[in-house]
Amino acid sequence: MNLDNYKIGVLCGGESREREISLKSGQAIYETLKEEGLNVVKIDVHRDIMKVIEREAIDIAFLALHGGWGEGGTIQAICRLMGIPFTSSDVLGSALAIDKLATKKVLKSEGILTPPCLIFSKKDIKKKGYLENFAQQVKVKLGFPVILKPVREGSTIGEKEIRKKDNLKSELESSTNYGNILLVEKYINSTEVTVGILGLGDDLEALPIIEIAPKAEIYDFKCKYTPGEAEYIIPARIPKDTYRKVQTIALRTSKALNLEIISRIDILVENKNIYVMEANSIPGMTRMSLVPRAARSAGYKFSDLLIKMLELSLKREQSTDNE
Ligand SMILES: Nc1ncnc2c1ncn2[C@@H]1O[C@H](COP(=O)(O)OP(=O)(O)O)[C@@H](O)[C@H]1O
Ligand SMILES: [Mg+2]
Repeated sequence: MNLDNYKIGVLCGGESREREISLKSGQAIYETLKEEGLNVVKIDVHRDIMKVIEREAIDIAFLALHGGWGEGGTIQAICRLMGIPFTSSDVLGSALAIDKLATKKVLKSEGILTPPCLIFSKKDIKKKGYLENFAQQVKVKLGFPVILKPVREGSTIGEKEIRKKDNLKSELESSTNYGNILLVEKYINSTEVTVGILGLGDDLEALPIIEIAPKAEIYDFKCKYTPGEAEYIIPARIPKDTYRKVQTIALRTSKALNLEIISRIDILVENKNIYVMEANSIPGMTRMSLVPRAARSAGYKFSDLLIKMLELSLKREQSTDNE
């Protein structure tokens, strides 16, 4: 497929808490596509994005937005509406993957294991006894430690590992910033891995599995973005049959959530139990990010990966009715 006749817009930045990371992904994509001799423009996305797309007259959108409406279906709907092919999953997959609770519901219905959790609603916190009762349920049903997570954030923003009931109560009381619903999830003592999935429709390919060995207890914001704070091992050091099972579960997850072109499935391996933690519909795209690393070890250079994503977005556009 010849990309020479297309003007590519790299959409990055946005207004989520992951703005700075998105700008880095966007810059890396922009530079690489330019080096490939393609006609490319970098666009910092704000709410006037429809006007900007019209003004720049782009033919394809390379989406490098992380978190919020950039990753969660809104920009995808805008691109659909404007007839612009784009390099991420479609509206439904994006909306499901951004929401950790919706993701869990789909996984459960497909028989895919996900760490057990309880849902905490902040609007109920003023009700007499609610907090104490909830913390007691966590103790009985999940046991400590647990992970507290917002439903709709990424990059480990707002996430905490909590070891005691009293700490949980005080964390819940002070958790005002990250939406009304929080997940309290059982902490799984495990090997953490992540799997990139590339492809379209039923034709999906699992990339080599990356094992993540963070220096901290969980793979937090600092570990994610500071060189040397986590070790990445490709292929993951897990038994061969587990390796195959993890890739199969990642493929099933991607399909169940309607993810395509690219996705990255975060997984915890606890002996025979393989838990899917969450799915990322626009994973990080700097040269050092996880999917580009895995792609490299499968034989795709960074530029090959980006071009493949652009080609897949064009292929999808040709095969869908633009209803
Ligand atoms: N249930 C869990 N058990 C153990 N570690 C977890 C669990 N949930 C999350 N973590 C840790 O927290 C990190 C971020 O959690 P994740 O659900 O992937 O959210 P994010 O969208 O922020 O990446 C994971 O990479 C992992 O290190
Ligand atoms: Mg994650």
